[in-house]
Amino acid sequence: MDFVKNHWYAVAIGRDLPAGELVQRQVLGTRVVLFRDEEGRPAAVEDRCPHRNVSLSLGCLVGSHVQCGYHGLAFDRTGKCVRMPNVEQPPAVMRVQAFPVIEKHGYIWLWTGEPSLAAEERIPDYSWQESGAWVGDLAWQETRCNYMLALENVLDLSHATYVHGETVGSPQVAQTVPEVVMGEDTVSVRRVFTDRELPAFYQKATGWQQADRTQTITYFDVNCVRLEITIAPIGNTDPDKVLRLMFGGPYTPRDAHSHLHFSSAYRNFRLEDSAMTAALIGTIRKAYSEDVSFLEDQQRMIDEGRSQPNRLFAVDRGPVAAMRLLARSIEADRSAPISRT
Ligand code: FES
Ligand SMILES: [Fe+2]
Repeated sequence: MDFVKNHWYAVAIGRDLPAGELVQRQVLGTRVVLFRDEEGRPAAVEDRCPHRNVSLSLGCLVGSHVQCGYHGLAFDRTGKCVRMPNVEQPPAVMRVQAFPVIEKHGYIWLWTGEPSLAAEERIPDYSWQESGAWVGDLAWQETRCNYMLALENVLDLSHATYVHGETVGSPQVAQTVPEVVMGEDTVSVRRVFTDRELPAFYQKATGWQQADRTQTITYFDVNCVRLEITIAPIGNTDPDKVLRLMFGGPYTPRDAHSHLHFSSAYRNFRLEDSAMTAALIGTIRKAYSEDVSFLEDQQRMIDEGRSQPNRLFAVDRGPVAAMRLLARSIEADRSAPISRT
């Protein structure tokens, strides 16, 4: 499968993993069960009891241990069996695979590769989601298409004119030729709209009708994007008058045919306005649901063998460049060490 294994993947929004609960997720084809130990630290082990192969997520959390619902074996956050009915010392072989997990930037991140390489510094940067200078909210949903199709979708925003005309799109997007900027490990696709009427979505957020606006979507770190919007008074040169919005999130492969889509809507203005926070994330969720029918249709074409090689044009430069970087990351990862406990 075309995945980078040595990588941190977002598997949940932190608030969706409440104390005392078991949450099942699938990442790169592996089912895991997420939980919090008694200190509140998130943990993840493979969702399969080694005794008779049932899902541990059918069991329950007892203190800091996942207890299998079938015959009561219990496992700690390292995957070690710590309790076995009628057996004083559970044998070492009775264990499950455990995964490094860290909570950061509002997400629970799980490392799927060699555990010794799981450095916290390698977590993709969504730090503004924890910064006091920004306010916003997160959302997620499972989508039945390969994560690469979804990355290609977001890196070519010309579709916003046609797919998102009712929510965040406007005719200007498809009509404006984007600039594609290549970094060492990033691709940015940028459009500049000078002295234009704002789409209704941004009119509501800013209270302005006409403005200068930029839209920069950046691909980075294997499966991540951020979409930065700046909106400023026409002809403005004062950085303090620039309103900024930040969208986007990681795309976590469940398997080759589906992924977890994380979206976000943050802004650096009207920080106290909680109704605005709800309205922005609501619109982003709605916009993404407009994409889903196209993305899942593309995947069906592939799965049914009806897909032919793409015939690309100018708007595809960003997605093509990003997919090249991703292919390079997948290739580099193949030669990296992977060990399994
Ligand atoms: S199947 Fe889990 S304890 Fe028996
Ligand atoms: Fe879209």
